[in-house]
Amino acid sequence: MMKLAPSILSCNFSNVAKAVSQVEELGLEYLHLDVMDGLFVPEITFGAKLVKDIRRNCNLIFDVHLMVERPEDKIDSFIEAGSDIITIHQESTVHIHRVLQRIKAAGIKCGISIVPSTPVSQILPILDMVDLVLVMTVNPGYGGQKLIQSCLDKVVELRDIKEKEDFNYLISVDGGVNLSTVQDVATAGADLAVTGSAFFLSDDKAEFVSKMNKLIMECK
Ligand code: DX5
Ligand code: ZN
Repeated sequence: MMKLAPSILSCNFSNVAKAVSQVEELGLEYLHLDVMDGLFVPEITFGAKLVKDIRRNCNLIFDVHLMVERPEDKIDSFIEAGSDIITIHQESTVHIHRVLQRIKAAGIKCGISIVPSTPVSQILPILDMVDLVLVMTVNPGYGGQKLIQSCLDKVVELRDIKEKEDFNYLISVDGGVNLSTVQDVATAGADLAVTGSAFFLSDDKAEFVSKMNKLIMECK
């Protein structure tokens, strides 16, 4: 069944610890951490120091999404900070293969992400080596945007390739996942769905998660 990965991008940054505990208390497994450098995307969020500090008191799976240019210069500190999965963008460097190799060599999982204008064909050469493919269903940089429906075709395509080639990656969808779109995401075949604003802007997060899970289960 598709799992939810709340993104702390939409939490109140004056109380990140509370946001993380809310995710843990709901029994969720994943925490999505959106790192923005102000270059690859316009905004700046946080760096490895925050990831390391959250890691001290938290056992969630850290799904670190690097929206940064030249990830080769930055991955070491995120590896050291205790990330479980580091996802880099296909569009962020020409040395994708080498950066993925370095993440794997550090003993952690590696992911590749594609923005809405990047086709799956561009990542075919590295699909055999990744643990996760993050399909952006909005243009990265901001929470609270509307899901671009046509991007879900890439999820279907990735599911077909995975089955045909017997690859191991998880498919994650990021951007605009909420109560209205979650069934389309699950039906397309995603394993994980990032949820930022829909989760953190819900007054009753337990109710939100239970409604989302009910909708996901109906898709099976
Ligand atoms: C956007 C980020 C997302 C963001 C999703 O660039 O990568 O992870 O938190 O937020 P929502 O769920 O609000 O679209
Ligand atoms: Zn993200």
